[in-house]
Parts: sequence; structure tokens; C-alpha cells
Amino acid sequence: MKIGIIGTGYVGLVTAVGLAEFGHLVTGTDSEVDKIEKASQGISHIYESDLESLLKKNLKKGKLTFSQDLDKTILSSDVLFVCVNTPQREDGSADMSFVEAVSRKIAENLNHYKLVVEKSTVPVRTSMWINRTISLYKKSDVPFDIASNPEFLREGSAVSDFLNPDRIIIGVESKKAREIMLKIYEKFKDRVLITNIDTAELIKHASNSFLALKISYINLMSEMCERTDADVGLVAKGMGLDPRIGAQFLRAGLGYGGSCFPKDIRALTKIGEDMGVNMNLLMEADRINLERIGVFVEKVKKALWILKDKKIAILGLSFKPETDDIREAPSIRVIKELQEGGSLLRLYDPEAIENMKAVFPEDPPQITYAQSAYEAAKGANALLLITEWDEFRNLDLKKLKNLMDNPIIVDGRNIFEPEEVRKLGFEYYSLGRK
Ligand code: UGA
Repeated sequence: MKIGIIGTGYVGLVTAVGLAEFGHLVTGTDSEVDKIEKASQGISHIYESDLESLLKKNLKKGKLTFSQDLDKTILSSDVLFVCVNTPQREDGSADMSFVEAVSRKIAENLNHYKLVVEKSTVPVRTSMWINRTISLYKKSDVPFDIASNPEFLREGSAVSDFLNPDRIIIGVESKKAREIMLKIYEKFKDRVLITNIDTAELIKHASNSFLALKISYINLMSEMCERTDADVGLVAKGMGLDPRIGAQFLRAGLGYGGSCFPKDIRALTKIGEDMGVNMNLLMEADRINLERIGVFVEKVKKALWILKDKKIAILGLSFKPETDDIREAPSIRVIKELQEGGSLLRLYDPEAIENMKAVFPEDPPQITYAQSAYEAAKGANALLLITEWDEFRNLDLKKLKNLMDNPIIVDGRNIFEPEEVRKLGFEYYSLGRK
């Protein structure tokens, strides 16, 4: 069985490497030549632990190849994983034009039976459209099937998530498709849930939106803690002890970012609205999340009074730790607001500096980049913690304090113990706790 991966972005590249690691024969293809050239040389275009070593290993073993030729990849594959992106449109809905274009290409190159697997996050009912498109454009009477196999990997632990998944959701509607998918995931028989295709598609959006909802819920409680003597960390701990609630995704702070939650919650809202379902619950979650930035910046203002000409160290630029991804990162909006306020910002992140330079080019004295957290803190009037990298948890706070002009920390991720930092002489602000 030969597997073709169409689109070698985040999901596609990890899927290609992961399926090769399971022992399958995989070819990855992408319209961006640069990605394919790099991947063919064993270079990953994204920062993800273990990805490059497994990429190199499977290239060497001959299990994995990359090609710039989409037609050829389709012709030579039995199973095609569609991993192209579905960007967010102005109205929140997903732009499905890449999926449509790929469906047409598959139709044109349908030389023998193929199973087309939706791997990217797509709206419920997408398979109906793929089916219709392939049927409309195919030139011969060759049969094909569609399956939905949403991906649940998290950035930062993408490879280990793929190689050791909690669950494998397979949406199929024919015996043949079911058998093929079960064969691909033979190793994980006990973790497979088989559903129809609409259900599998919806499981993905429903999962991400539920997790986003959970984060906004704790951030709403954080607002209540701010106005009382309650502590959001302990509220979350107390709630999380109930196994029906669970402790995960109850970390209050600057809210969720990244390429998935913000986009998926809006897409699901739009899909529901188009069906006539009242989606206010999800719209509120999105609103609460967007408001987090304002709440945080207000704290900075409270600490500094005037933003203009204040030297501010910003620690953490990626949307979460262990990734260099800055898509929809809270840092971007915080930086914009402070930049507009006239502050002088010194930015640092262990991995995301290069990506951030494309959004905020170095522009001294307003925007500069530091080589370390300590360098960023030197002479600062305040230090803002935006992303909770372990490196920041382990900072030598005494050293940090000596470097700063004013020892003020505004912690957007609640990583420090208020009492401890205050004991060291810092003025300390966090979210949802005193
Ligand atoms: C998310 C899902 O967790 C994956 O299962 C899914 O496959 C992926 O989206 C996707 O659809 O591709 P990811 O965006 O990589 O993964 O990151 P998460 O670890 O889920 O974090 C998302 C955001 O929520 C981050 O900005 C994080 O800082 C924030 N977060 C998370 C909180 O603010 N509080 C929490 O308690 C947990």
C-alpha cells in the first residue's frame, strides 16, 4: 500500500514521518518547492522535537520520499492523505479552495481505486463536497472512497502525539475504506473509534472548541477572582479534582492562541450559524479570549502609569512553549498595544525570535531583540511574561532583579509564586490572584 501525503505543512509533515515510522511507504508532496527540497534533504521547516531525526531515518530507510510532482504522487498512491491548509476567511469560515483544488487533481489522476483521507481540520460535510467534486471531474469510472481521520497532535509534542495517540477517529462509509484505515493504524486497534464521516469531521471541531471553551471558562472565573480574594490557581485545582471536569486546560492567563483554537472555534460557530443553530456559547468563549489582552495591558498600565518611553522586557513570543510558531500568539497583540503606547520593547524567546522579526522587524530603540531573558531585562522598567517556557520558570530571580531598573513583573501565565517573588523585592502582578 502506497500512501501519498498532499501538503507537508505541520500536520502533513508529521503525518508523513509518522506513517513511514509505522512501516508504510510514504511520499509527501507540496506546492511550496522549498518545503519539498528541504524535506528531501532531511531538513524540517518547522521546529518540532524528534521530527528531523525521524525524517532523516525514514528517508535513509527508503520508507519516505518527497516529490514536487502532485500528479505523479496521486497516480502512484493507493491512499491519499489530504493535509492542505484551510485558512480562516474574514467571516470566520474555513477557506476550502485548496481542498477543492486537490480534489480536482485527484479526479484528473484517478487511474485506479484510491482512498482519499481528510487529515486537515475541515468543516462537517466536507466529504460530501470532495465526493461531489471528484465525481464531477473524474474522467473514468474508477471507484474511490473518502475517509475522515482528524489529527489531534499538539504543537510542541507533535511527533510523540502522532506515534502514541490517545484515540484514532476513523470516519468511513464503506467496508473497503474501513479495512484500509484499520490496516494503516494496525498498531492501535484498541484506540480506534469508527464512526460515519460527518461524525468524525465534527469530533475534531467539537474537541478543539470544547478545550477552548474550557480555557475561556477558567479565564472568566479569573475575572471573578480579580474582584474578590479568590485565587484562580486554586479554583482550577479544586475544580480539576473532580474527574468529571479534569485538571487539564484550566490554566488561566493570556488565553489561547495558535493556528487551531481561535480559527476552529470561529469556523464551528459559522458552520452552526449557517445551519440555523444558535452558537452564542462559542462566540462568548472567543470574546472572553480576545479580552484577555486588554486585561493584561491594563495591568501593565497600572504598574507603569505611563507607557511612553518605558523600557519593557517581553519574555515569550511563541503562542505556547516548545514551539517557534507565532500564529495568533497573544504576544503579537500585547506588543502592538505597547508599541502604540510608545514603550521601548526588548523581546526574547528561546525559539521564535526569527519568526517574530518578520512581524516586528528590529527597529531601535522601540523594538529590539535580546539573546537571553537576562539581556532583555537589563535596565527594564518592567518585565512581562507572555509564554511559559520552562527556561523562564528556572530564571535566577535575584540576578534578574539586579539587572532591572525597576523590579516589576507582570506575569501573563501565573508561573511564579506571588509570595516568593514579592519576598525577593519584586512588585508582582498576575492574573486572577492577588
Ligand atoms: C490544539 C489541540 O490541543 C490539539 O489536540 C489539536 O490537534 C490542535 O490544536 C490542532 O487542531 O491542530 P495546539 O494548538 O498545538 O493543539 O496547542 P494546545 O496545547 O492545545 O494549546 C492551545 C492554546 O491554549 C495555547 O495558546 C495555550 O497557551 C492555551 N492554553 C492551553 C491555555 O491558555 N490554558 C490551558 O490551560 C491550556
